[in-house]
Amino acid sequence: MKTEAGTAMESAATVASPRRVLVVYATKYGSTPKVAETIAEELRATGCEAEVRTAGDAGTTAGFDAVVVGGPMIFGWHKDALKYVKARRDALAAVPVAYFITAASLTDDGSDAVDGVPISKDSWLVKKPRREGKLTFRENYARPMNYLGDVLCATKPLRPRQAAFFAGALDLTKMNILEKLFVMLVIGASPGDGRHWDAVREWARGLPGALFGEERAATR
Ligand SMILES: Cc1cc2nc3c(=O)[nH]c(=O)nc-3n(C[C@H](O)[C@H](O)[C@H](O)COP(=O)(O)O)c2cc1C
Repeated sequence: MKTEAGTAMESAATVASPRRVLVVYATKYGSTPKVAETIAEELRATGCEAEVRTAGDAGTTAGFDAVVVGGPMIFGWHKDALKYVKARRDALAAVPVAYFITAASLTDDGSDAVDGVPISKDSWLVKKPRREGKLTFRENYARPMNYLGDVLCATKPLRPRQAAFFAGALDLTKMNILEKLFVMLVIGASPGDGRHWDAVREWARGLPGALFGEERAATR
């Protein structure tokens, strides 16, 4: 006959401890932290434990079951996000990893993967090219392949399970003249806060599935 203590021990052994996810972000002008926090919030709602840290101060990945790294496009992926991934390539190769990229412009060239990495594109960010098959300089510059391809190349052989592109926020009052010229002329970006919380939350809810192969129902 089973004792009460025996049954309790058995069920404790079968209840899996929550997955621990580290969300690391870089930022230049302060809009990406809230994207990282929103991802962590949504991960918690799926039953994971999530901790948010800045790329410059992220410390070790020990004790985490997965890592999400994000940052804005600032003449390429933010240097701190890239530096973080490069410096911890070996540790990151041992756990499932996902990336997110905040940006002001992304060309919808129909791709759903970059070098085999599945990508998710915020509908508020992507723009169809004006002429199919003949991209302008700007449209070509803002292709997923250009943004993420460079990151994958710089951080070889690490492969994230997934990468998401989200609309960011562009505050011209914070930028110097060269930055303004770049974002207006090269990116063709419109100033303002384009962050699209539904897109961020939806992607984050799917992360346990992408990272751990688990479907977890949101608890709220
Ligand atoms: C100097 C500079 C360069 C940027 N370069 C790009 C770029 O190449 N492609 C893009 O889509 N957005 C670009 N952006 C837009 C930023 O990625 C976007 O505004 C982002 O949300 C900023 O995040 P943050 O507020 O966390 O720094 C650039 C912004 C700045 C200020």
